[in-house]
Amino acid sequence: MTTPASPLLSVQGLRVVFPGRHGAPEARAVDGVELDIRAGEIVALVGESGCGKTTLARSLLGLERPAAGVVRFDGKPLEYSSRALRAYRRRVQLVLQDPSGSLNPRHTVYDAVAEGLRIHRHAGDERKAVADALSRAGLRPPERFFLRYPHELSGGQRQRVVIAGALVLEPELLVADEPVASLDASVRGEILALLLRLRTELGLAALVVTHDLGLAWNIADRVAVMYLGRIVETGPVEAVLTAPRHPYTQALLSVLPEAPGEPVVLAGEPPDPSRIPSGCRFRARCPILANGEADRAGVADRCRAEDPGVLNAGGESQAACHWAAERVGA
Ligand SMILES: Nc1ncnc2c1ncn2[C@@H]1O[C@H](COP(=O)(O)OP(=O)(O)OP(=O)(O)O)[C@@H](O)[C@H]1O
Ligand code: SF4
Ligand SMILES: [Mg+2]
Repeated sequence: MTTPASPLLSVQGLRVVFPGRHGAPEARAVDGVELDIRAGEIVALVGESGCGKTTLARSLLGLERPAAGVVRFDGKPLEYSSRALRAYRRRVQLVLQDPSGSLNPRHTVYDAVAEGLRIHRHAGDERKAVADALSRAGLRPPERFFLRYPHELSGGQRQRVVIAGALVLEPELLVADEPVASLDASVRGEILALLLRLRTELGLAALVVTHDLGLAWNIADRVAVMYLGRIVETGPVEAVLTAPRHPYTQALLSVLPEAPGEPVVLAGEPPDPSRIPSGCRFRARCPILANGEADRAGVADRCRAEDPGVLNAGGESQAACHWAAERVGA
């Protein structure tokens, strides 16, 4: 049994590295991530393109082998034998952005949803399990969908089929990589409402990867903000989105249409995981360092020389930033 003190999923010091091509330096796509997800909790993972969200999501499923660090599920470190991974994937399921890409166009809805049961040699009533999963994913009456093909469905219905395929094994955690990004705005809300209902009805935890901070606000209990391979701020959604502490989170929020004040446009090159700066990884683009505030707070030298380190993911809102730490007197 997982207690509140022991997270369902816990990631410590996780690093995933891709070799550089043609002698280029390696890409440190995930570079020291700390992250906890508790049972029944929805965590939104946000950050700009290329910051490592998908690589992190895949490594939680065991699809990327870490160069360092550990992923623990229910207290136990992940094992990477194919047998152990197969057992693990009953409990943790991945839902991808593009439902068309995840569904075989030649398979009926029934076969798509039953596939997981067959892989895992489900002993019970297959037809009932498929019907229950479709119904939980909001496709009712489920029998009406059994013999339909993906091209006969709307985008929202296809995503529901993908979610049903994940639910059929009764997992404890869904890892959803941009689950609504390819859908029309009108059906996004419905799919998000579905994820929230699954949490209430089944106690399902979820890590939802998204570019969209508004979506994070509507769905998540906690937010983790990722920058260049690292979670740089994490905390309850309300704390992080109304009182962001890391200059990167502040900049992300400042460009939302409803944000007060001037948008903060980040200077400098887009970040490159094969060239992570020394000191604070955000320093080349940090407005607080550029405008002298870090200097006035007496931390500018540390910004240049000292990595603010990884976040301890246990407590409330936390930011990997010398200036933010100075401001709260930590
Ligand atoms: N298989 C791979 N081989 C080499 N480099 C990779 C590989 N997969 C990802 N990368 C690099 O790792 C970094 C992180 O990529 P990732 O796809 O995890 O980012 P992301 O945050 O999911 O981006 P997006 O928001 O665009 O989906 C990028 O610089 C990417 O080019
Ligand atoms: S540690 Fe310094 S450079 Fe990094 S985000 Fe904080 S203020 Fe900016
Ligand atoms: Mg991605």
